[in-house]
Amino acid sequence: MDRITTPELARAFIDEQLCALRSQIGNKKVLLALSGGVDSSVVAALLIRAIGHQLTCVHVNHGLLRKGEPEQVIEVFRNQMDANLIYVDAVDRFLDKLAGVSDPETKRKIIGKEFIDVFAEEAKKLEGIEFLAQGTIYPDILESDVGVKAHHNVGGLPEDLQFELVEPVKFLYKDEVRVVGKELGLPDNMVYRQPFPGPGLGVRCVGAITRDRLEALRESDAILREEFAKNGLAGKVWQYFTIVPDFKSTGISNGLRTFDWPVVIRAVNSVDATAATIEEIPYSLLHHITNRITHEVKGVNRVLYDLTPKPTGTIEWE
Ligand code: XMP
Repeated sequence: MDRITTPELARAFIDEQLCALRSQIGNKKVLLALSGGVDSSVVAALLIRAIGHQLTCVHVNHGLLRKGEPEQVIEVFRNQMDANLIYVDAVDRFLDKLAGVSDPETKRKIIGKEFIDVFAEEAKKLEGIEFLAQGTIYPDILESDVGVKAHHNVGGLPEDLQFELVEPVKFLYKDEVRVVGKELGLPDNMVYRQPFPGPGLGVRCVGAITRDRLEALRESDAILREEFAKNGLAGKVWQYFTIVPDFKSTGISNGLRTFDWPVVIRAVNSVDATAATIEEIPYSLLHHITNRITHEVKGVNRVLYDLTPKPTGTIEWE
């Protein structure tokens, strides 16, 4: 099959999928975990076109999303596309479970398990759902086949929740999913989003997560993204974000001593995340971002730039 590289090919794919989805689903109901990432968003947009309110989307806010993300999911899918969207505010639930937990893999496990629990609880409240839609893409299938990583779309649902799967983009690569998403009218910042890990900001709020440090992380990340977008780096750099470690250092502000966190900026280029190089950000921009973060983000008095390629550093700090 031709790779989907143009709007015409995307339109042909969409038409074909609308037919296939309608004949697979009939008048039955479908459930989808909608994270706001490109894959689940494209699947949601396709299904909304194909079957409208027979689709129920569940968006779980686990408190580790970036600034503005839950709001954008509600705006795009509920307000603009008229989706049947259930928004679950699970922030306290996740952060309470994570309180005091500093081991990175334990944090990941808690987030993954809690996500499945919240999603399953929502699914059980709904009547007559027979299908589960997933944003599985082709590399997910290839990777699970060779055992590179566990397939981390909503796998592992409890046994009493057995659904037939609907996976309309499972033979597409990421770049093809983006072309389809653009053609479906999804906003650019959703379609061309940088990779964002499932555990979200949880792996960037190093060590045991606290609400105040998580807030410093979310705000500094928002400033970095805003400045990268303004300065033409957003579409150029593969992945960029901030990290807030769990230690403090001495600083000075308005003539007074401060004892606050540092913010670390990481901006890397990569093809498939197995290796990464460092983006050479202009110093003037780094100075400007440092100035904004140290003045606008509460609890932060220093900014550092991570110069470490992968290897030896992984992309995320945890
Ligand atoms: P590392 O840190 O291993 O990251 O160099 C490679 C890529 O994978 C992303 N990443 C994750 N994605 N769940 C995910 O869905 C995770 O637990 C996870 N950990 C890392 C990371 O953002 C980078 O793109």
